[in-house]
Amino acid sequence: MSSGFLAAKKQLPNLGVGLGLRRELAAETFAHRDQIDWLELVPENYMDLGGRIRERLDMALEKFPLVTHGVNLSIGSTDPLSVDYLDSISRLLNKIDAPWWSDHLCFTSIENSYLHDLLPLPLSSEALKHVVKRVKVAQETVQRPLLLENISYYMQMPGSQMDEVDFLAEVLEKADCGLLLDVNNVYVNSVNHNFDPYAYIDRLPLARTVQIHVAGHGYGDELLIDTHGAAVIEPVFELLEYVLKRTEVKAVMLERDQNYPTFSEILSELAQIRAIVERVQPALLPALLSK
Ligand SMILES: [Fe+2]
Repeated sequence: MSSGFLAAKKQLPNLGVGLGLRRELAAETFAHRDQIDWLELVPENYMDLGGRIRERLDMALEKFPLVTHGVNLSIGSTDPLSVDYLDSISRLLNKIDAPWWSDHLCFTSIENSYLHDLLPLPLSSEALKHVVKRVKVAQETVQRPLLLENISYYMQMPGSQMDEVDFLAEVLEKADCGLLLDVNNVYVNSVNHNFDPYAYIDRLPLARTVQIHVAGHGYGDELLIDTHGAAVIEPVFELLEYVLKRTEVKAVMLERDQNYPTFSEILSELAQIRAIVERVQPALLPALLSK
């Protein structure tokens, strides 16, 4: 049976190599349209549009294709899906005409309190059914393709019965949604939990990948920490190349959220990503750099 999502993926635009829109980097980001194809924004920051925020959003929209990457969908929570949240994100997605939207396979709320952390789910068949049902509702309500991202996690939740990669794969297939594959998270988890990152990628339904995140990480006492606050390391670029050789994707982006370097360092990381894309999957680059 042909998948609704996979058919929809074929219609999605090739966005190319993008960057997260961050307040601290916004002015320089807008000044380098020639080296950045598209922007990803955190929708929760743009739902209540005050003066400065509206200006930043309007400027971004004028210059770049935009997609959202949220944190508060809380797709795995036992709280009811928030109708207000789905309404707000639908309005924003309509305003920016985003080709897709994404969030994380995790939960971020308990009893309607938001925790500001991406918490891993118990990898059980009960949690699987729960998430699949909610992804379908979210996707049908918002009426745009939804991608779920693999998170970095530092503990196994009690009650887990399967590997995280199998849980993720089953959610994607059964809910018929897309994958936002974060190759830095794969790397960080592979070191922290001692598995082969390439074998992990091979177990995913890779054809569902629409977008890839590339980022740097930090070093805790015993674990690698997914900080988005350091330069991307070579093994993460190698995972990006591995994925791009195996499946067609629509967009790759660099996540940098703290400990900001000079903007020229960010541009040079974007250029490294672009060089890999040009070599391995040039079709993913947009035909024109201007909107
Ligand atoms: Fe990510």
